[in-house]
Amino acid sequence: MTVLIKNANEVITLNNGVAGPRTKEQMRDIAIVENGSVLLDGDRIVAVGSLSQLEAEYAELIAQAQVIDATGKIVMPGLVDCHTHLVHGGTREQEFNMRLNGSTYMEIMNAGGGIHATTKRTRETSFEELYDKTRKHLDMFLKHGVTTVEAKSGYGLDWEAEKKQLEVAKKLQATHAVDVVSTFMGAHAVPRDYKGREDEFVDIVIHEMLPQVAELGLAEFNDVFCEHGVFTPEQSRRILEAGKALGLTPKIHADEIEPYEGAELAAEVGAISAEHLLVASDEGIRKMAEAGTIAVLLPGTAFFLRAPFARGRLMVDEGVPVAISTDFNPGSSPTISLPFIMNLACMNMGMTLEEVLTATTINAAYAINRGEQIGSLEAGKQADVIVLDVANYKQLQYFYGMNHTNTVIKNGQVVVQ
Ligand code: NIG
Ligand code: FE
Repeated sequence: MTVLIKNANEVITLNNGVAGPRTKEQMRDIAIVENGSVLLDGDRIVAVGSLSQLEAEYAELIAQAQVIDATGKIVMPGLVDCHTHLVHGGTREQEFNMRLNGSTYMEIMNAGGGIHATTKRTRETSFEELYDKTRKHLDMFLKHGVTTVEAKSGYGLDWEAEKKQLEVAKKLQATHAVDVVSTFMGAHAVPRDYKGREDEFVDIVIHEMLPQVAELGLAEFNDVFCEHGVFTPEQSRRILEAGKALGLTPKIHADEIEPYEGAELAAEVGAISAEHLLVASDEGIRKMAEAGTIAVLLPGTAFFLRAPFARGRLMVDEGVPVAISTDFNPGSSPTISLPFIMNLACMNMGMTLEEVLTATTINAAYAINRGEQIGSLEAGKQADVIVLDVANYKQLQYFYGMNHTNTVIKNGQVVVQ
């Protein structure tokens, strides 16, 4: 199939000549082609340019193309949501209400709610039910212009249920238009029955779960919740190093609730990304910039937990490559709306419109090791393209809280119109 998207007011290509994750002022250079058109063939991008340029060079292809008229609209790469807890059983609106009445997130978790409540529901939910529920969530992501999501396990906390979550993600990767990239997060919480025996559980993750994840090819990344009362930096380091030895790339939930030198640890173990970072230290931020660790910031979580926002502005200024994501999960961020999250990043983390676009496309793609395939509109890259019904990219956040997605093309196929 050949598709021509023609005459968009702006084509945001993100193809600014920088190889690798973007930092500092590179994050503001979103490389716009005005009055632009995009030609796709099969599952690849052929070219971006003016309609007359494309017609002159690709007349034959264009003659057989399905034409999408983007007059008055803008075009950009499909959004990449690089941090979600996609596959999970149940919902937790009750806890939301408890928090509105004064309980804290960690109090609820320590009393057996929070991650433990979702773990119970996930264990009880069948593979088929989990698959159906998650498929519906992916449909919603797609309608909001998200064409790739990362999916973390971590609501099983025993091998059987962790495997079930990872296999649901794997089946969805095979059957759903949205690309699903898997992360193993067996160390998301210490199961209730291991209280006081935390190291025993760490050993199970290291010696029993991780080797099977690697052997069965169920995940590319290995993540851990490094937090006071969850996993210590030392335990986190052991888990991440063990994954590394098996070929799993480290990620880390770092400095989310209380400062715990998670950002520092991420830089030290060579993690591809440190995520959350609400209360990351100055030193941690400096070390991340030095190591090139991507900061995956999740302002929806700060918003929903009424916690301080991560210092996105400072991180960009210090040279940390920043990505932004929903953290979609049933406890701290039950939304699939990456466009809303982008707005929060502008309003509460001091990031600019251009930086936020970079953070949800090319930098997010690099955070899941897909920067060479997706995240920008460049000849040869995967044909994941969205058309948005706004006159220019500034309107995306100006008209906030709305879904501007008009057309979604995934792997060269029109999947939302
Ligand atoms: O990213 N920090 C840990 N995990 C999730 C929350 C999980 C939950 O509350 O169910 C997070 O915020
Ligand atoms: Fe998370």
